Amino acid sequence: MTDPTSSKTLHVASSHPLGAVTAEEAFLLEKLNLGSLPRHLAVIMDGNGRWAQRRHLPRIAGHRKGTETARVTIETCSRLKIAALTLYAFSVENWRRPKAEIDFLMQLLREYLRQEMPLIQRNNIRMRFLGRADELPAAVQRDTREAMEATEQNTGMVLCIALNYGGRAEIVDAANALLAEREASGNSQKFTEADVERHLYTSGLPDPDLLIRTSGEMRVSNFLLWQIAYAEIFVTETLWPDFNRARLLEAFVEFQKRDRRYGGIGESEESEASSSRLARK
Ligand code: FPP
Repeated sequence: MTDPTSSKTLHVASSHPLGAVTAEEAFLLEKLNLGSLPRHLAVIMDGNGRWAQRRHLPRIAGHRKGTETARVTIETCSRLKIAALTLYAFSVENWRRPKAEIDFLMQLLREYLRQEMPLIQRNNIRMRFLGRADELPAAVQRDTREAMEATEQNTGMVLCIALNYGGRAEIVDAANALLAEREASGNSQKFTEADVERHLYTSGLPDPDLLIRTSGEMRVSNFLLWQIAYAEIFVTETLWPDFNRARLLEAFVEFQKRDRRYGGIGESEESEASSSRLARK
């Protein structure tokens, strides 16, 4: 019998989007319907500091290892034809960290963009950055702009990096953009949800169907507050640097077990309700 926890690489049919997979990944893939994966996955990549502390390493070693997890997550989602992936890399609150750690994170992002561009291009990925770009260091602004320009013709997955991002700040920015638009047009009609959505950093993207948070904390930390209104939330104890492909597939398996009702009643209750309506006729 196959040991699903074995990390030995197993070659499945070459047409499989993930190519060579481990026995554990093959076991999870069998449970997964690749036709109903989330369209948009959002991830709070937490636990880099704890991962490093547990190994008596400086926190920055955890961030560096975390970029490897980001690479695997990006490539896996792209191969699985997920439409959008949003990674929370730096929040508006993260400026409260020691300057040396902030500088390291900014440097790491620049290095990441330089090193990963071939993989991004090979996978036909389009990059976007969500957040207040004008408050970022000039070099980061330049590199992120260049990454967006270099990938703007790509037609595959949209990869959003939330950088100097805050969910409340995003809603305030959208409200101010609407006010400016109103002043210019003189239109005085009430704003609708669609008007707000047009001005969110994520405009044009579907809302996340699944939000993954690593490291066990049960909170949303000011991430995509508007957009996650109906997202399924998956919290795992696994620290971000240890969140490998099998853990990602596991989150998808869990997602597919959820009954998404959007405030209505579930499919099974709906069919029960309609059979009892028919029985009463
Ligand atoms: C949270 O861990 C992680 C961050 C604030 C930074 C996330 C950045 C990366 C994973 C690397 C860069 C990513 C990309 C896409 C280039 P924490 O430091 O809050 O961990 P802790 O809660 O254990 O202290």
